[in-house]
Amino acid sequence: MTEKTPWYKDAIFIELNTRAFKDSNGDGWGDLPGLTSKLDYLKALGVDAIWLLPIMPSPLRDDGYDVSDFCNIFPAYGTMDDFKTLMNEAHQRELKIIVEIIPNHTSDQHPWFQASRDPNHPEHEKYRDFYVWSDTDKKYEDARIIFLDTEKSNWAFDEKRGQYFWHRFFSSQPDLNYDNPVVQQAMLDTVKFWIDAGADGLRIDAPPYLFEREGTNCENLPETHQFLKRMRKFVDEYKPDTLLVSEANQWPEDVVEYFGDGDEMHMNFHFPLMPRLFMALAKGDRSPIEEILARTPALPEGCQWGSFLRCHDELTLEMVTEEERQWMWETYAPNKAMRINLGIRRRLAPLMDNDSRKILLMHSMLLTMIGSPFLYYGDEIGMGDNIALLDRNGVRTPMQWDSSPNAGFSEAPADKLYTPLIDDPVYGYTRVNVVAQEADPASLLNRIRHLIAVRKQHPLLGRGDFEWKSFSFETKAVASYQRTYEGKRIVVLNNLRDTPVSGWIPETADKFVDILTGNVIHPGDYTLPSYGFIWLLPVE
Ligand code: GLC
Repeated sequence: MTEKTPWYKDAIFIELNTRAFKDSNGDGWGDLPGLTSKLDYLKALGVDAIWLLPIMPSPLRDDGYDVSDFCNIFPAYGTMDDFKTLMNEAHQRELKIIVEIIPNHTSDQHPWFQASRDPNHPEHEKYRDFYVWSDTDKKYEDARIIFLDTEKSNWAFDEKRGQYFWHRFFSSQPDLNYDNPVVQQAMLDTVKFWIDAGADGLRIDAPPYLFEREGTNCENLPETHQFLKRMRKFVDEYKPDTLLVSEANQWPEDVVEYFGDGDEMHMNFHFPLMPRLFMALAKGDRSPIEEILARTPALPEGCQWGSFLRCHDELTLEMVTEEERQWMWETYAPNKAMRINLGIRRRLAPLMDNDSRKILLMHSMLLTMIGSPFLYYGDEIGMGDNIALLDRNGVRTPMQWDSSPNAGFSEAPADKLYTPLIDDPVYGYTRVNVVAQEADPASLLNRIRHLIAVRKQHPLLGRGDFEWKSFSFETKAVASYQRTYEGKRIVVLNNLRDTPVSGWIPETADKFVDILTGNVIHPGDYTLPSYGFIWLLPVE
């Protein structure tokens, strides 16, 4: 008997922005009741858990990652009661909800910062040391700047206080001071608040930067890990099963530290794998994936990778070499307007030239290679992006439900939508929408639903060991591997090239079942079509 497998190892996640999903009251902004009304769609897609982008009050200078009240709901999204209704309705459908927690910083509009910066504020004493203040901007000079396109320094001067404050992201997002035990407690109280509100898990935003120490790059410091372990201990004691999934955008050997000895985060996203899936596809060569998986350490018991293709941010190229970054930019973002910071601000379908074979192949790798997959809303119908919008907003446009005005997203006049819909000739909502794809058995949506459904019938795809296999002399053209768990195995072949590739099915068995089609396949020669893939269950 094996130990009970934690739910998140078998789960499929979807990331979505409440604002972008469904507007229930005609104000042009998606909201919690709107999202609640679309839970059946998410259930039918086959996901198990929904990661909500920030839902807390915020001036939205960083789309909600600049929080002005950690224990409330952004008014346009609804109320705490709406959140509780969402939780109940989700739980009735056996869907879990993951809430975003942003421990590193607040908005400069947060009352804590307002009190901290103003010596005449009645609560100044209480909040004076809540942030990282300094008389000089010459400290911690080894820390890199993350939002390179907008920020010139990690310090900003505050006139009221007459000092500089530290910020790793926008200057409207002052970093909290984790050397202050009261700050640590305040963040644990935030965690408790959302667990009490029913959250099944928390996504911990940008954890590497919690502490600063001179002479270091101020990332992944031992003090940061200590605090995260404290958070985990609290969660384990308070509500065991609550998932902590962290966004440490780091190299595998650094990320693995965020799992601790199984006593820190349950899950971490595998950031370095993501761009290498795109690289392998464009090169028709699996080597980039091989290299990064070879550098990926085994995880402690109970831990899991989060894998993804795209998310609400740019396709980040921080975890590649300079040369690889240039190559990725030239290949996937030839127009400079497609680039931002160290990344590419485009959605999956446009990155794949709207070629459904490539989109599906990427999903085949996402769903079978390593970890628990995270989808990004809209990619399942092949939504496009709008690079004319500022920052990363081009990949955060309203969900395209149908071909009616405003794509069935909102009843508001079009000029009241929080951002324009995609309405270009290729990806516009009259062509790309849920209703049209639900009606077409061969649509991207229905094929992705099918891949998800099959993955869920085979939990070994979430839990199993991974081993590369050879398919032909041209092995590098095919990402072929085997997943093994408790004596069972599945062999997966993904043709990364736009030409058929012939070889022989790796490993022997009397026969195999192609679990995507039910076809029986005999060992021996086999030809994979251009960008084709096959998931094989040996019949032994
Ligand atoms: C994370 C979020 C990103 C945000 C940043 C600062 O990287 O994913 O959207 O801008 O943190 O909070």
